[in-house]
Amino acid sequence: MAYYICGSLKDLSASMIKSKNFMFATQRSAYLSIITFVFSFFILTSAWAQSDTTDVESTDQPTTEAATSQGGISSDPAVITAGEALFQGNCRACHAVNQKLVGPALAGIYDRQDMDWIKAFVKNSQAMIASGDEYSVALYEEYNNTMMTSFNFSDEEIESIIAYVKFEAENAAAAAETPEGVPEDGTTTTATGPSKYLTAVIVGLVVVLLLILIVLFLILGFLTKFLKERKDDLDEADREMIDQKFDFGKLTRNPAFIGIVAFIFGIFVVKAVLDGLYQVGIQQGYAPKQPIAFSHKLHAGQYEIDCNYCHTGVRKSKSANIPSANICMNCHGQIKTESPEIQKIYAAIEENTPIEWVRVHNLPDLAYFNHAQHVAVGNQECESCHGEIKEMEVVEQFAPLTMGWCINCHKETNINTKGNAYYDNLVELHSQHSKEPLKVEDLGGLECAKCHY
Ligand code: HEC
Ligand code: HEC
Ligand code: HEC
Ligand code: HEC
Ligand code: HEC
Ligand code: HEC
Repeated sequence: MAYYICGSLKDLSASMIKSKNFMFATQRSAYLSIITFVFSFFILTSAWAQSDTTDVESTDQPTTEAATSQGGISSDPAVITAGEALFQGNCRACHAVNQKLVGPALAGIYDRQDMDWIKAFVKNSQAMIASGDEYSVALYEEYNNTMMTSFNFSDEEIESIIAYVKFEAENAAAAAETPEGVPEDGTTTTATGPSKYLTAVIVGLVVVLLLILIVLFLILGFLTKFLKERKDDLDEADREMIDQKFDFGKLTRNPAFIGIVAFIFGIFVVKAVLDGLYQVGIQQGYAPKQPIAFSHKLHAGQYEIDCNYCHTGVRKSKSANIPSANICMNCHGQIKTESPEIQKIYAAIEENTPIEWVRVHNLPDLAYFNHAQHVAVGNQECESCHGEIKEMEVVEQFAPLTMGWCINCHKETNINTKGNAYYDNLVELHSQHSKEPLKVEDLGGLECAKCHY
């Protein structure tokens, strides 16, 4: 192969040698081909990235059409949304659609029992058990005589919950069939797929690029050598070009070159030192070991337990609260009772001492921060300040918690004024002298006394 290329190149250059500025021409064509290659490389990779993102978008679409109404269970999106809200608020602490928690997985309940039975059971399961309904009694025993709360819901409300359950169950089934391998909790990690591909493709292309570069240099060397043998056929200018040598030793002795290298190096050192200094007193990334190996990834991620279920204060008070052992017992009275980690919860309750969780986030006493203000009024997501808690086995501090961090967000974030009559007058006043939407800073979010006692 290489021999063949060399042979044909020999022919090529022999024919080109007749043209006058031939050396210049070969060099230019070498550069041109490198540039074209690099250019098409970027076009290709960006096109690849684009096609992947569109793929993800199209697989993301829920298969609403497929979930047509069956056996009187509605597939109306409005009903499903209403049902979802009811389910999240009332049932999720004990039920998941596709997984057994404290109670059974609710998927398929519409096949196991008819709607009237379901309604009666949700309204008062204890009455059903007491009446001797065989199915209810067996279920109650299977679940270690755990009492399900009674719910004073209307028939429509219960129907909407079941519509949501059915929609979720069918969606999960559809998702499981897609070849991409969507994980069991239903969230799409396919988004990370393309980036993995992309790195592989980029690495591959870089290797190819290097190989081509090496081949080009070999060709260049070969041609120069070949031309040197025929120096006599060339004119003055071409001969000079062939004799040119790249002298690295000379370059390293050049003061301008040394200056530039020293300057770039200096900039990196200064930046590293400054970055280091700015980190003093900042605990970003702090992730202490906890007395019980409690995992948010498992509870909040996989089992989708709502943050509010444990952090009860987060929507109503300054502090989010760390749950007491009693909240754990709502579930761990039944779940994993033999696990040594769970035994620690029982020990804490028996000895009547709280579990000594290690605090992760710590603002200094001079600063005032209020969760209800940010989560309930300001409509801020936990994730924007705490990061992807649902992915964390051990909680770590995500944000720097510096004053600059608070201030930046107050400068950038619009106030959530919709449906809040309290802000109506303010919005009107504000819009008289500014076209920008109302931001936290316009309410005094930058005043020292708002954050400092
Ligand atoms: C405190 C925990 C808890 C809550 C909250 C709860 N359930 Fe249950 N549920 C259970 C348990 C436990 C069972 C198993 C039967 C038993 O032990 O009484 C069950 C059984 C059921 C069943 C029968 C399942 C089957 O496979 O036959 C249905 C239907 C049901 N629950 C619906 C609901 C709905 C709807 C809600 C929310 C409005 C809800 N549950 C809230 C604990 C709970
Ligand atoms: C089943 C109960 C439970 C649920 C649900 C839960 N948490 Fe927690 N959370 C805890 C416990 C217990 C701790 C203390 C131990 C630890 O830090 O891991 C904690 C600690 C934290 C901390 C660190 C507190 C500190 O010490 O500074 C943050 C932040 C947090 N949770 C956020 C969340 C968010 C956001 C969610 C919802 C996505 C959530 N939690 C859901 C029980 C829960
Ligand atoms: C709403 C129900 C629920 C609540 C509340 C809850 N858990 Fe869990 N927990 C679970 C489920 C479900 C599992 C997974 C069990 C399994 O893997 O089979 C689990 C697993 C665990 C495990 C792992 C056990 C092992 O050995 O694998 C620990 C530790 C744990 N929970 C601690 C806690 C603590 C501490 C609290 C209170 C802050 C708590 N849980 C509150 C449902 C709950
Ligand atoms: C605007 C930023 C912000 C948002 C949004 C936010 N937090 Fe926090 N969170 C903080 C700060 C700051 C602290 C440290 C407070 C302190 O040390 O006084 C904290 C502390 C906590 C703690 C430790 C206990 C406490 O109350 O000090 C928990 C638990 C917690 N957050 C949970 C949550 C949950 C759950 C949500 C979402 C419902 C949430 N946070 C939303 C900024 C935020
Ligand atoms: C993710 C963005 C974000 C971050 C980070 C943030 N805030 Fe806020 N903050 C808001 C929003 C939005 C509001 C407006 C809430 C409302 O509608 O009243 C607010 C309001 C406030 C207010 C009330 C201001 C007023 O005029 O009434 C105080 C005090 C406050 N924040 C303190 C803090 C402190 C202290 C920190 C840092 C530890 C912080 N915030 C970090 C978004 C943020
Ligand atoms: C949005 C909330 C917010 C506002 C507004 C704010 N601060 Fe702060 N400030 C903080 C937080 C949070 C800290 C703690 C940060 C840390 O520990 O790095 C802090 C820290 C400080 C500190 C450093 C204290 C120390 O021990 O290092 C000083 C000084 C300070 N603030 C002064 C001011 C002054 C003066 C103003 C008004 C011009 C102001 N702050 C406005 C949130 C705020």
